[in-house]
This record gives sequence, C-alpha cells and structure tokens, in this order.
Amino acid sequence: MYKFFSQIINIVPPEMAHFIFLEFMKLELLNKKYLSERLNIKIWNRNFLNPIGLAAGFDKNGEAISGLMKLGFGFLEVGTVTLREQNGNPKPRVFRIPEYKSIIQRLGFNNSGMDKFLLNMKALEKRSNKILGINIGKNSTTENYISDYKQLLNSCSPHADYLVLNISSPNTPGLREIQKKKNLRSFLEKIIKHNVNKKPILLKISPDLIKEDLENICEICLEDNFLDGLIVSNTTIKREMLTDKPIRNPWKINESGGLSGPPLKKLSNKILGEVYKKTKGKIPLIGVGGITSAEDAYEKISYGASLIQLYTAIVYNGPNVILNILKGLDFILQQKGFKNIKSAVGNKINY
Ligand code: FNR
Repeated sequence: MYKFFSQIINIVPPEMAHFIFLEFMKLELLNKKYLSERLNIKIWNRNFLNPIGLAAGFDKNGEAISGLMKLGFGFLEVGTVTLREQNGNPKPRVFRIPEYKSIIQRLGFNNSGMDKFLLNMKALEKRSNKILGINIGKNSTTENYISDYKQLLNSCSPHADYLVLNISSPNTPGLREIQKKKNLRSFLEKIIKHNVNKKPILLKISPDLIKEDLENICEICLEDNFLDGLIVSNTTIKREMLTDKPIRNPWKINESGGLSGPPLKKLSNKILGEVYKKTKGKIPLIGVGGITSAEDAYEKISYGASLIQLYTAIVYNGPNVILNILKGLDFILQQKGFKNIKSAVGNKINY
C-alpha cells in the first residue's frame, strides 16, 4: 500500500502529499499493532502500550487521530494549535532533501485555530480514549503571548493527557526568545497557575539553545510545581550537518526554516543527554529528532528518553516504520537484557 503513497510523495509537492496522506488516515483502513510487555511504560499515571509517538506538526488540527493511532503508535501529539486560525508563511515553505532523507520547512503554525480544533477533540472523545498530547503555540501576530497560552491551556487541557508549550519553533518570529533565561521563569509562573485541570505540562525545546538557557531550563525542571517533562527537540536552524554529501538542488539548503530528519539526530541526542544528566533523570524526557530505525530509538532511550516521537521518517519510509521500530526495539531490549523500557532509560549517561 505504501508503495503507492511513496510514488505520490515523489511526484506531488510535499504539502499536497501530506494532505493526501491525512485524508487517507481519516478512512481508518490500516490497523497495525505490536504488543510486548517489555515496551509498556507508565508515565504521568498513564499506561503507554509502547513508547513510540507521533511528533507534533503532523496532525495540526487533530483531524485524523483515530486513523493515525491505528498505525501502532503508543501515543500521538497533535497541534501546534494556535488561538486563532492562521495561514502560516507563503508557499513554497516545505522542502525535501532526499539525499539526507530530511526536510526543511517554515510552515509557521498553519492551522484552523482553537475553536475548530476543540470540535475535533469533542467528536473524538465519543469513540476513543487514546493517549493524546496537545501542543500549543502563539499566533504570529500576537503581542501578549501569555494570554494566548493561558487561553489555549484552559480550553485544551480537558482533552489532553499532557500539554506542550511550544516555544521552540524557528518559524514564528520571536517565539524562541521565550526560552531565554531572562523570560522563561516569569512566562511559566504566569501560565502554570492556569493549569486548573492539573494536566502534565511539558516544554518543547530547541536544539540550538545556548548553554546558559539550557542550564536554566534544567534548573527549572528540578523545581517542584513547574514542568512535568521536556521534549527534546524541535527542528534546527543549523545547516552544517548537510555538507558531507552532494545534493541535486543545493539551493534548498539555504531556505530558511527548521531542519528535521537524520541530520538532526546527533545534535538532538547531544542536548538530550545533557538535559538527562543535568535533570538527574528526575523528569520524563521525550526524545525526538532523526529517528528512523529501532537502533535510533534505542539510542534516544540510552541518552535518557522515556518516550520517543518521530515525524520525518514517516514521510520517507511510510507508516510501516512504526511497527519496524517497535519490533526491533523489543528485540534490542531483550538482547541487552533489559526487562522493560524504564530500566534502559539513560543507560549511556555517566554521572
Ligand atoms: C514539524 N515539527 C513541529 N513541531 C511542533 O512542535 N509543532 C509543529 O507544528 C511542528 N510542525 C512541523 C512540521 C513539519 C513539516 C516538520 C517536518 C516538523 C517538528 C517535529 O515535531 C519534530 O520535533 C522534528 O521534525 C524532529 O523530528 P523528526 O522529524 O526528525 O523525526
């Protein structure tokens, strides 16, 4: 089945291919499952059947949740949703770099806005109880961004198992400034008191953070009543990882936006390991960036991730990649003598 889709993917522009894929997911025709007790993990009082999740940005409006869940994922993260509908940046804004199986994109939080998103959430609750993260962000024109996040948090949290404050997309001007030491604490203080439903709150961070800001985030994580987890990481604006192979269309590398896929792996793993070390394993981490194989997934777990997400690998390898990773990961854990995911988390990190 995916052969048909991979042909479409090679012919049609990336955003059109994505649209077609989501429409196909809405039909809920696939039903893939891989079950193994070794892959179960309990976090935030939720039982994840497996640690592999869909990364944010794939289903921004939460339109195809049931179909996507049937690809074998242990959880999904939907969004980024903003308060008001927005078109995002002018097209073209998504560029495939097939030589590296990677993507550069500057979509800029194109989505239907919170009201439509909530209608999708309400429709969903009647027929499923999947583990669902909701990723929220500010509109590009918003100046009082605290107000955007407060309203989104209040309205989305009844539908979420966890919420993600996305302050690390490189495609919304000024957004990543919120991660800075001088801004972050007061931002979180103002937002978190609005978490009346007491849902776990995570921060999704950039792999391009400077040392001072990363250390500050880790210190905040060690304090009680702030954050319940971190997602490491969003896309990078760096390009130096794209210089060791010839590329058919080298101009693409100079397109502005966030880079994802295998070239991001080393950088995101480095940040993941640093964060795990500095937070002393006290806070769950979701590892994302460049995962294509079971070995990649195991590596993230070894660097400290309790859960894992992917996006770009689905574009290049098709939906079978999820089951392949699950089967392979189960095998690796067994081979290495780990009885479950939890016992393998952070095994590469020396204090
Ligand atoms: C993303 N990503 C993303 N992240 C986020 O928090 N909100 C979003 O709306 C989006 N949108 C988005 C669109 C596209 C086309 C891509 C490729 C990526 C980032 C994504 O969730 C993930 O952090 C990175 O893509 C790294 O993972 P992979 O793709 O290397 O597995």
